[in-house]
Amino acid sequence: MNSAEIRQTFIDYFVNKSKSKHTFVPSAPVVPQDDPTLLFTNAGMNQFKDIFLGKGKRRYTRAVNSQKCIRVSGKHNDLEEVGPSPIHHTLFEMLGNWSFGDYYKAEAIRWAWELLTEVYKIDKSKLYATVFTDDDEAHELWQSETDIIPSQISRHGAKDNFWEMGEIGPCGPCTELHYDLGEPFPGRVSPPGDGPNTDSGRFIELWNLVFIQSFRDESGDLHDLPAKHVDTGAGLERIARVTQGVSSNYQTDLFQPIIRDIEARSRVKYDEIGGIYTPHRVIADHLRSLSFAIADGALPGNEGRGYVLRRILRRAARFYRELDIHEPFLYKLVPTLVEVTGEHFTELKERQGHIEHVLRAEEESFARTLDRGMVFFEEAASKAAKEAKDDNVVIAGKNAFQLYDTYGFPIDLTQMLAREIGLTVDVEGFERSLEGQRERSRKGAKALTGEGEYTYVTRGDDSRFVGFEQLKIRTHLRMYRIDEGEYSDANDPEVAEKPLLSVILAQTPFYAESGGQVADQGIIHGKELHLNVFDVRQEGDLRVHLCRATRLPASGEIPEEVEAVVDTIRRRRILPHHTTTHLLQAALRTILGDHVTQAGSRVLPDYMTFDYTHFEKPSPEQLEQAEEMVNRWIREDLPVSWEYTDVDTAKSKGAMALFGEKYGEVVRAVKIGEETPVSLELCGGTHVNRTGEIAVFRIESETAVSAGVRRITSTSGEAGFRKIQEERKTLHRIVDLLGSYGSDPAEKLEKAIIEQKKMEKEIERLKKAALQGAVNFIDDWGREITLKDQKILLISGVYEAASDRDSLQAAGDKVIEDLKKADRKGIGVVGALIEDTFMIVTVVSDDLIRQGVHAGKLVGGIAKKAGGGGGGKPNFATAGSRDLEKAAALLKNTNEITKFVESFISL
Ligand code: ALA
Repeated sequence: MNSAEIRQTFIDYFVNKSKSKHTFVPSAPVVPQDDPTLLFTNAGMNQFKDIFLGKGKRRYTRAVNSQKCIRVSGKHNDLEEVGPSPIHHTLFEMLGNWSFGDYYKAEAIRWAWELLTEVYKIDKSKLYATVFTDDDEAHELWQSETDIIPSQISRHGAKDNFWEMGEIGPCGPCTELHYDLGEPFPGRVSPPGDGPNTDSGRFIELWNLVFIQSFRDESGDLHDLPAKHVDTGAGLERIARVTQGVSSNYQTDLFQPIIRDIEARSRVKYDEIGGIYTPHRVIADHLRSLSFAIADGALPGNEGRGYVLRRILRRAARFYRELDIHEPFLYKLVPTLVEVTGEHFTELKERQGHIEHVLRAEEESFARTLDRGMVFFEEAASKAAKEAKDDNVVIAGKNAFQLYDTYGFPIDLTQMLAREIGLTVDVEGFERSLEGQRERSRKGAKALTGEGEYTYVTRGDDSRFVGFEQLKIRTHLRMYRIDEGEYSDANDPEVAEKPLLSVILAQTPFYAESGGQVADQGIIHGKELHLNVFDVRQEGDLRVHLCRATRLPASGEIPEEVEAVVDTIRRRRILPHHTTTHLLQAALRTILGDHVTQAGSRVLPDYMTFDYTHFEKPSPEQLEQAEEMVNRWIREDLPVSWEYTDVDTAKSKGAMALFGEKYGEVVRAVKIGEETPVSLELCGGTHVNRTGEIAVFRIESETAVSAGVRRITSTSGEAGFRKIQEERKTLHRIVDLLGSYGSDPAEKLEKAIIEQKKMEKEIERLKKAALQGAVNFIDDWGREITLKDQKILLISGVYEAASDRDSLQAAGDKVIEDLKKADRKGIGVVGALIEDTFMIVTVVSDDLIRQGVHAGKLVGGIAKKAGGGGGGKPNFATAGSRDLEKAAALLKNTNEITKFVESFISL
């Protein structure tokens, strides 16, 4: 069987063959949409977590799927194993069947056994079952439900047989099926009495059956879940290996085409001998996880998920360097990957161009430093070897840091390089160097919301969304919870005093934040009850209204019947912004090309942002064209309609699917236009009824977000109209100020600016000229004084013409100039009233400076006498005084200044 058949057989078995009637559920994206505890989807059960926690429901209680999983961070991390291990991958496909409070251990065990032994025809004598230490029930069931060899059932502790999704989350005991590769098995010798869960490598785990019954909370405590569930996971790659009878997962049809492509391009043969790892393995494996992650909307970057991807890519790059490849390489393999898995995971095919672009850009940026980094590493390693006192050779932390910081080597890449030549790295030293430099990539796992106690008011179905058609309804209040915490509202300073409530209704017209569209706001009211709804969140199937109570019943009894009213004005401001994300996407695809897909959006009352994949800045003309196209569709007043359908039908009609949408069986397809719609997208958001309601669409800005992703910010509807009004007001003000009625204000402004520049120059010139002619400092202000036996000139006075500091300083300069011209030694003291300070400038001619006269000290002395302070250099200094009269009187009194200067300066 090839891997596609293995996958399909698994699905069919649970959907039909066993009459067990499981519902097929497509794989969730590898980038989790609404789980802050996870960087990547790491198990098939992730998308059902809300059901296990009792927060969500589905139409079915039994499900089957094939989930793409990435295990490179957190509790489940296999990155380091990839290469040496024949069976570990960063990305693998997990085949699974689920029971949500339906069947339990007996059926799970019976069906797993039947499928492996009767359908896949795996040799029974080679299968081993493991059970959790005290799970007698499972131990017995293996014997009653299957014909496994009883001696091949063994018990193991929590490390192997208690499965947990992460540090926090659903968990429970598990039972696993392992396959014995027999002796001799490729590469290793098995110790006597070898069995499952040793590290000999002879036994490989094929299938894990988890009996989910507990929840581990933040503090590590276990709680019983409301119901018991089955969660199973079988590795497609491993089943393929066993049924295809090959020596590693890399020899299966899932990897062979990629490995052959690598061989052809590198001219280096893949070497499978007994578990020796070769670059081919790492490259093929990393190509898969990177491509799947990028297809689902992730991008390499500096933190969190992005940094994990960057590390994987750099690890791959270092391995193809082993094959003597020194330029971008991974991206060339994408077409082969698409051939291998693109039929089932169609997102790879759809986003092939985008994946190639992103890989190539990221590879190019690392290629620039990889080779130089390798040289640095080799030098650091040989230095470490020379300095080592014993066999324990450690690469210095600061060198590891330099590799990281300058050459972009993630620490685990450096560690791996070190390990290969028998060295270690001083990671603590590295961390120390890193301290303060690296932001924590993401906050610690946050507690799941909604753990508090709800109080039931009425019972029955809840959270049915009716807000596509209705904005005001009467309904039942199902439950509420008083919340702790603060909600601040600038408009209402008393808000902190008012209790916060989470409320769940039978039906609700309130849109919960999702798909980038913000939640509705409004009120919920009933007898003696008034709640302001400020946010609405989707938690599993629940729609939780976050409210601030402005009135609560004195009796404490919350009314059963309430009216729920959405703030219609706000909703109407939001609608056009959502519809225009669809129109803009359609326009950009027409103008820029089909590689444009939505990479995210924010839909708000005042504007929307639309992120899209594109590799260069669009030209102003292209943006104008897009703006025009959208506005034309608005004027055409196209109908906006929607229908519920299934993903395949929608896609076959050409519907655009967003990154990482979590498809249930039923999706909502939103269509704009009639027979040949201008847009068809899967979308759960709210929209205008006809495009005419949008009225106007304006692109406000276009910027880059990251490599290959750009962002357009735009306004529409009322917000767009307000912008037009604002701009018009500004324009009118400009016209008024310029008096440019009936003519082009821009032209007039341009002229005015040129005119002003000219005038500024002219003023400068005039100021200088005025100064030249204003005072003859030596004749008008100078007098000879005798200091010791020398005759020098003292020039002092108040310079009324000075209007600013510059002209006062120019006056000081002029005094020196005049002294020079007259070839005299001298000192100048010039004062002027500038704004609300009396400023004084002192200057000293060069020969006096040499004799020790200091303008700074002198101005300090004068200023002190004038009720102020100041200082400066020996040749030029300034001071100021707020005591205007005192200062002016002093400077005007020639005798006093003379006496002061004579006594102050002793040459
Ligand atoms: N959730 C289980 C696992 O990941 C099946 O192994």
